[in-house]
Order: sequence, then structure tokens, then C-alpha cells
Amino acid sequence: MIADQLAELIERLGPLSFETFMEAALYDEGGFFASGRGAGRSGADFITSVETGTLFGVLVAREIDRWWERLGRPDPFVVLDVGAGRGQLARDVLRAGPACASSLRYVLVERSAALRELHRDHLPWEPPEDVLGPGTETDEDREEPEGLETSGGGVAPGTGRVTAPHRGPLVTSLADLPASPIAGVIVANELLDNLPFVLVERTSTGWSEVRVGRDRGRFAECVVPAGPPLADLIGRLLPMDAVPVGARLPIPTVAARWMREARRAVGRGGLVVVDYAAEIDALVARGAQGWLRTYVGHQRGTGPLDDPGLQDITCDLPTPVVVAAALSAGWVLEGAVGAQADWLVDLGIEELAESARGRWTQRAAIGDLAALRDRSWISEAAALTAQPGLGAHRVFTFVTRRQGSSR
Ligand SMILES: C[S@@+](CC[C@H](N)C(=O)[O-])C[C@H]1O[C@@H](n2cnc3c(N)ncnc32)[C@H](O)[C@@H]1O
Repeated sequence: MIADQLAELIERLGPLSFETFMEAALYDEGGFFASGRGAGRSGADFITSVETGTLFGVLVAREIDRWWERLGRPDPFVVLDVGAGRGQLARDVLRAGPACASSLRYVLVERSAALRELHRDHLPWEPPEDVLGPGTETDEDREEPEGLETSGGGVAPGTGRVTAPHRGPLVTSLADLPASPIAGVIVANELLDNLPFVLVERTSTGWSEVRVGRDRGRFAECVVPAGPPLADLIGRLLPMDAVPVGARLPIPTVAARWMREARRAVGRGGLVVVDYAAEIDALVARGAQGWLRTYVGHQRGTGPLDDPGLQDITCDLPTPVVVAAALSAGWVLEGAVGAQADWLVDLGIEELAESARGRWTQRAAIGDLAALRDRSWISEAAALTAQPGLGAHRVFTFVTRRQGSSR
């Protein structure tokens, strides 16, 4: 049992960082995601935008096509769907028939082996080497050409991968980001909020860390002064005067490391992160009870230290910290960090919902599958753009380099 292992670890080492506790609770054997729990409808634990229906995937397919065009229609063109869960987004994107399909290599990156197993059952899954090809990276490949565009062809410059063109869409899954850099885009929907974080509290002189110890047979908070490495990290990511004394914040330490790995994984292209996030003052106003949450069986769970392994642990990310971590990883932020609702409007959600409404009005009496899908799209569009709600998720768009820049 995860709880027993954590209790034993605390006995041996003393109070653990919240990051270590969360890592075990979600990802160790028997952990929440390691056991195949997570996003989905009946029998699952929480609804993400992906799980509202098929409309979100249609819009993500449009986003993917934008990246393909922008990169000069590379072939192969790799999409890394990181934190792919059970693979629903992949199914919906492929069903939407994106224009890039014949060049597309769609790679689901999912840490949980139990969830990865499901990909083979519901997708035209092929072994990774057949999809990504044997790596043949050369120095020339590693150098990025001017701008983001490429001429396409069998070897995508900057990727070092050789696969036959026009064979797509090809689909595979990996446990981790691929080792050699791709030409393409990473899509990470509700990934970062599930990456373990450190909990800190602002004091009158600096920062304390909220660690996890034991008290009368239960896991309990243990607040200690933040050690120099953590205090330095916070100092680099957060202006101290932005946080009032006594306020607590999550420091997304694993997300910051993941940003660096993600940057290494993309030779040319971008990263689209969609997640719960808020400015520092909003997090301070919400308090830890507001931004630190647990879920199980489509209900809010209990305290984050209760029942490790049996409930999801998640937080609202501090927007400026996510941006700072990405910039220090070498990403370039494109545009402002906006709301999911605005992003989806830009991708055409209103027009799609309007056409669905028109078709539903004509075909409601028939009530066939197409009519029912149209009816569902009307309510999905409302849910995906609702603020507060899924429409308030933040969308961060990063590129490997500014368009037109030679650096
Ligand atoms: C909240 S779920 C999101 C699932 C899906 N993207 C969606 O929107 O429905 C987060 C998923 O990220 C996975 N995950 C966590 N860390 C990961 C990592 N470093 N690489 C790949 N997947 C990871 C978890 O196992 C979990 O399935």
C-alpha cells in the first residue's frame, strides 16, 4: 500500500516534500494514475475538455493543422499528445480527419502503463519504431533552419528521423517524450496540473516549505524553513513582494523540469499547454483550499494527505511561474496567455455550434446518430467555453523560436 510505504519513508527520512508525496500517490505502483484511474465518464474520476464529447478534438485537429501549415507542411509531422490518458483526444482528432493526416505521426505520451494499454484497443496503434523511424541524427539535422518553415520530405530537417512520407496518419504511444527531436507540436491538455509540485508559504523573512510528516498515525503537514535550493528556485520564478505573508502557493517543480525535456523533444515547432492556471493574486485570494484539490469518482475528494493512491491530487498552476519556467527552458512565449474560451472561438467553435444547431433543428424529429451528435455539440460548445468552468482554463502557446527570427 502506498500509504504504508510513505509512512515507512517518513519514519526513515523525516518529513517528505509534497512533491515526493504526490509523486508516490499518483505514479508509484498502486498510485492513482498508475492504476489506470483518471479522466473519463462512467467509472472514471473527472471530466476534462476532451471528455465532454467529440467537439474538442475537432478543434484541436484544427490547431494541429495550423501548426502543420505554419511549419511548411513537414512530412513527417509529429504531434506529441502528452498526458494522453486513455487516448480519447487521439481518437477524436483522427476521426476529425485533419488536413495534415497523410503526414501525421500521432504519438500519445502517457506515463501510466495501465492507460497506455488502452491505446492499442481503440486506436490503429503501431510500434513506435514504425511510426517514428530509426533515428539518424546528424549535426546538420540538429541545426534549425531560418524561421519555422521547412520544405518537407522524407527526413524532416531538425528531427533526424527517417520515415517514409505520405504514410500517415500513423499512431503510437510512448511512456515518455521521444529521445530525438521532432518537427511538430506538443499538445498537453491538463497535464501540468498533475505533475507533482512543492508547497510553499510566504513568511515575514522569506519562504517556508510545507512538508508531509506523521502525527498520531496520520499524514500531517510539517512547515519548515525552505532550504537554499528551493528558496533560490522560488526567487527565480516568483517576485516575493507579489505574495503576502502567510499565503501559500504551489511551485510546479516537476512541470519546470518537464518544460526542459519538452524543449529538447521539439527541434522545430511548438508547445500548446491547456490547463487550470491563475495569476498569483487570484491564487492568494482563493487560498490553498481553493487551488489545491482532490477528485475521485466524479466527486471532490478529501484532504490531499488522505488516502494516497486513491484520489487525484491537482492544483491551479501559477501562470507567471509556468511562463518563467518555460522561458528558462528555452521556449519563446507566443502572444498572451489567454482563456480556453477565446482560443476555441478563434478555432471556430461558434460556427461549428451554430451549424450543429441548424442541422439539429431540421433533423430533431428524425433523431438519428448525426442529429444526436449535433445536439451534443451544442451543449459541448457551451461547456467548453463556460467561464467559470472549462472555458476559463489558460492556454499557453510556446514556440521553439520567434517567427522570422534567426536566433
Ligand atoms: C488529467 S489527466 C489528462 C488526460 C487527457 N489529456 C485529458 O485531457 O483528458 C493527466 C494525465 O497525464 C499523465 N502523466 C503525468 N505525468 C506524465 C508525464 N511526465 N508524461 C506523460 N504523461 C504523464 C497521467 O498519467 C494522466 O493520465
